[in-house]
Amino acid sequence: MEWRRTETPIEQTAVDAIILFQTEEKEGVSEFVKKVDEAIEHRISVLISEGEITGKYCELTAIHNWGKIPAKRAIVLGLGAEEKISLDRLKNVVATAARYAKNKGLKQLALGCPTWLSERFTAVDVIQSLVEGMELGVYQHPSYKQKEESSKQIESIWLSLQDVSDSAVKTGIERGKVYAHATNYARMLTHEPANFLTPHKMVQHARQIAEKRGLSIEVLNKEKLQELGMGGLLAVSQGSSQEPYMIALTYKGAPESAETLGYVGKGLTFDNGGLQIKPANYMYGMNEDMGGAAAVLGAMDAIGALKPHTNVVAVIPTCENAINGEAFRPGDVITSYSGKTIEIHHTDAEGRVVLADGITYAKRLGATKLVDIATLTGAVIIALGHESAGLMSNDSAFGQAVKKAAHVAGERVWELPMYEEYEEHIKSDIADVKNDDGSKAGTIQGGLFLREFADGTPWVHLDIAGSGEAMREKGIHVKGATGAGTRTLIQLAMV
Ligand code: BES
Ligand code: ZN
Ligand code: ZN
Repeated sequence: MEWRRTETPIEQTAVDAIILFQTEEKEGVSEFVKKVDEAIEHRISVLISEGEITGKYCELTAIHNWGKIPAKRAIVLGLGAEEKISLDRLKNVVATAARYAKNKGLKQLALGCPTWLSERFTAVDVIQSLVEGMELGVYQHPSYKQKEESSKQIESIWLSLQDVSDSAVKTGIERGKVYAHATNYARMLTHEPANFLTPHKMVQHARQIAEKRGLSIEVLNKEKLQELGMGGLLAVSQGSSQEPYMIALTYKGAPESAETLGYVGKGLTFDNGGLQIKPANYMYGMNEDMGGAAAVLGAMDAIGALKPHTNVVAVIPTCENAINGEAFRPGDVITSYSGKTIEIHHTDAEGRVVLADGITYAKRLGATKLVDIATLTGAVIIALGHESAGLMSNDSAFGQAVKKAAHVAGERVWELPMYEEYEEHIKSDIADVKNDDGSKAGTIQGGLFLREFADGTPWVHLDIAGSGEAMREKGIHVKGATGAGTRTLIQLAMV
């Protein structure tokens, strides 16, 4: 989609549809809609008085203009109650319109911005939200049908803006596009079937991003993992014919600084549970067990484009949890890259075992603050559903920084406690730690295990097993992979 700015008032733009906003609980048309309403013989007012347009959040009404103004249609979007308006709501509203316009085959759109929006928020933030929301809204998961249904595309969108500087428009458009495209990329990767997106394919994706953005890349193959003693990643992958890899991408935007953010993403291209195999209905969808890795790759793509003044190292342990005669067993004791020994109590708690090595590797590559992101536990879905990620941290200031980044990016996170009483759940009689003990506090147990490997370095864990998937199409979300965490990780690096 091509984004351009115009100072032409929206009622004078010649496009397939102009997009207007109406708030709820307003008597008559809002100030912003007035001029268009007058030009089209008060049809909007009539629909409001008849109760068809209410301004309810995400309501969409399309009106044909029959030559009264240059645009063929006006799409009136409900913004909801004025006091509830937020940038997140704005994104959901415009995403709904973008999906509608795309499905109807509308190619040229114009979008205005009510002045009071820019009174409440900065112009850059509003423009970013409009662009981001629409770019997220038009996303469709790829399909593998022989005959691809002809996919309709919106070609261009005019932003009808007065009294906003060109530089604000340019920055808003760039950020909106970059944040959305990174998320869409993460969604696309996560959606890929496991026979398409193998660990080796993941490496190819990382290489493409490194090349496109001028990042340095290091890929450790099985031989190298053995040489370095990455026992966690090796153990989890040993029951699969797919070779495991540890990928590291480095962005150096502040070479003079000793601070480096470390992002570690779980990259299980399939998780059948290992010897303690998953029941059939829980196994479906486990191609998405690399959502954390996808978010990290998407974020690195965006960071490489936006070039913030900071350093980031991204680490992705990628493999498959499968079963052959070599598969790791419950009761096995393995030595992780950190040197800490791990008792395997459950082969389906594999994510934390590969992340243990990923976290240690990120630290050895210079990370001074760590965020790991993973589809780690089914338990987080019980706790928070699909609406929020679970967050845990060993450092309240850094935890706060990640929460703030998530809030600004419009992603939900909710902190879970790490009371010392929970610590018994990772205690092993024969090794330094145990990967599971059947605790009901499954998400916290996973977080506590990972904290051992951060070992004092400020660290945040994001469990996206729930937020990584949307149950239905709604607002910015399509059904399925959401790309959760991508925008939080970008935002955190934007200093
Ligand atoms: N990949 C799963 C977690 C998951 C569940 C992701 C549902 C997405 C949707 C993870 O590896 C897993 O199997 N975790 C176990 C841990 C348990 C055995 C301690 C779980 O949550 O049941
Ligand atoms: Zn598992
Ligand atoms: Zn898993």
